[in-house]
Amino acid sequence: MSSYALPRLLLERLAAADSVVVFTGAGMSAESGVPTFRGAEGIWSRFKPEELATMDAFLRNPQLVWEWYTHRRAIIATVQPNAGHRAVVALEKLIPRVAVVTQNIDNLHRRAGSTVVHELHGNIERNYCVTCGTPHDIGPGKTSAGVPRCASCGGLVRPDVVWFGEMLPDDEWDAAVRAASGADVCLSVGTSGVVYPAASIPAIARKAGALHADVNPEPGPLSETADVFIKGLAGAVLPDLVTRLEELRARPNITSPEEGH
Ligand code: APR
Repeated sequence: MSSYALPRLLLERLAAADSVVVFTGAGMSAESGVPTFRGAEGIWSRFKPEELATMDAFLRNPQLVWEWYTHRRAIIATVQPNAGHRAVVALEKLIPRVAVVTQNIDNLHRRAGSTVVHELHGNIERNYCVTCGTPHDIGPGKTSAGVPRCASCGGLVRPDVVWFGEMLPDDEWDAAVRAASGADVCLSVGTSGVVYPAASIPAIARKAGALHADVNPEPGPLSETADVFIKGLAGAVLPDLVTRLEELRARPNITSPEEGH
């Protein structure tokens, strides 16, 4: 018996939903073995973001930053999407429009099979030249020991991720805002909700009339403003939500969808 309940309000709104946005953070991939950023074991408790995740840091010491992303690529190449990622894919069969808006650069939503994924902070499997912008494909799982040089102009090649102080990719941000503004339900999953503008996605959805449910083992800023807070792990809560929804679809006259699990 787990510690959370699936609120009736959320189940009913999901059952009636035409459009759902799933806003995810590092906690979504934690059960796959990808480290999160904050918290006691988080990456930022061991490394300084200003030394590894800014353009200044890259220009100051490109080798150090490249080696760090090579290290993270190697971790990501060995992990698999978890039950939470797979549940988000399953939602697509139950709800007409499901859009994933993710802060994660690990490509796990796509690898799980999600068809609509807006990557607000980029993707670690892509790279480009800092001088001419030419894409530089290293290929999933492959690494380059030294900082690659651009084949076109000889410039430094960097990972296609958003570093602190950088703008989010316009097209992904615009698509994310559209998805949030048209959603009936916004599920925020596994994010501390402290990095903006990404963390404003649930508020954008709520302002447009969506019900916002936050899923996290720890309460945080998003759970305080959410309509519903589910204190649990993504890999447990999301499959349960899908199971309940499938039951509701199979037997729409169920009177008490809300029960502890
Ligand atoms: N299921 C659900 N949530 C979890 C799980 C889990 N299994 N494990 C941890 N969490 C929660 C933590 O309680 C925390 O609130 O996931 C959250 C992870 O928060 P962060 O580490 O701050 O990650 P995130 O919110 O994605 O960070 C935002 O900050 O460092 C930058 O660019 C980076 O995209 C990242 C952004």
